[in-house]
Amino acid sequence: MHDLWALRGVTRRPHTGPHVLGSDAAGVAGGRDVVVYPVLPSAGAGAVAHATLLPDAGHGVLAEHITVPAGHVAARPAHLDWAEAASLPTAWLTAYRMLFTKAGLIPGQVVLVQGAGGGVATAAVSLAAAAGATVIVTSRSADKRRQALALGAAAALDTGARLPEPADVVVETVGAATFEHSTRSTRTGGTIVVCGGTSGFTASLDLTRLFAREITVHGSTTGSLAEFRAMLDLVTEHRLRPAVDSTVDLAEVSTQAERMLSGAAFGKLCVRVA
Ligand SMILES: NC(=O)c1ccc[n+]([C@@H]2O[C@H](COP(=O)([O-])OP(=O)(O)OC[C@H]3O[C@@H](n4cnc5c(N)ncnc54)[C@H](OP(=O)(O)O)[C@@H]3O)[C@@H](O)[C@H]2O)c1
Repeated sequence: MHDLWALRGVTRRPHTGPHVLGSDAAGVAGGRDVVVYPVLPSAGAGAVAHATLLPDAGHGVLAEHITVPAGHVAARPAHLDWAEAASLPTAWLTAYRMLFTKAGLIPGQVVLVQGAGGGVATAAVSLAAAAGATVIVTSRSADKRRQALALGAAAALDTGARLPEPADVVVETVGAATFEHSTRSTRTGGTIVVCGGTSGFTASLDLTRLFAREITVHGSTTGSLAEFRAMLDLVTEHRLRPAVDSTVDLAEVSTQAERMLSGAAFGKLCVRVA
């Protein structure tokens, strides 16, 4: 989605000339199979908000060769193929920070993930389920609800439906279309973490709900290098596999953009460069 925001001019540093897109990569560096930490400069835990994704700092990763600082690569989890490994960096790092750093998720808590098919959403379902949470997802699509259950969700509801029990933690990536439902679905003392807004960035907020239930709302963006390595450790330990919607050759990249815009994708849209 970040590439499409860039094409629409919604980016921290507007591009003025020809520009290579792409945030996430896995490949070979110095003879090692690696995945690339997608943030520049290398962000400490408290400095992530000042950092930027690779395609905003310079050119992106849809290229035969890219150059990143040596510390920005980590070993590819051995159980993952190239498309799965390339699906990890931004989406899984973002979901990891939202769940564990921002919301402080602990086993047994209930997590609501809005918009089940998104890259961050599918990562959040897998990570939260692996951490021992009860995961509830929403989606407009019956097919995506079914796929989310296969990823580890305990329940999958139509978008806007009442939850069987309130959520301790809400992972909000959909934005305008679901934010009101997120506030309605959060337990007293619960936490909503927002990292984006695919359906729109302006949402209304019932303040009484916020203060009467003492709900905390966090913004969150990507994650630190330490969080990236911790995310990879969790993926390796639980042998988690990112949901890959489809993989195409570089010449067909525009079909992935169209599929993203169609809203039909479940999981990550990948491009084979070499
Ligand atoms: N801050 C960061 O570091 C960071 C990192 C990664 C992503 N993001 C942002 O997070 C957002 C999600 O990105 P993504 O790539 O993970 O997912 P995505 O593919 O953009 O879509 C997320 C979900 O939004 C739902 N959706 C879209 N329009 C909707 C509508 N009108 N009503 C209800 N649901 C709707 C869809 O769910 P269903 O079809 O299942 O209903 C879709 O699966 C984007 O805004 C992206 O830019 C931010």
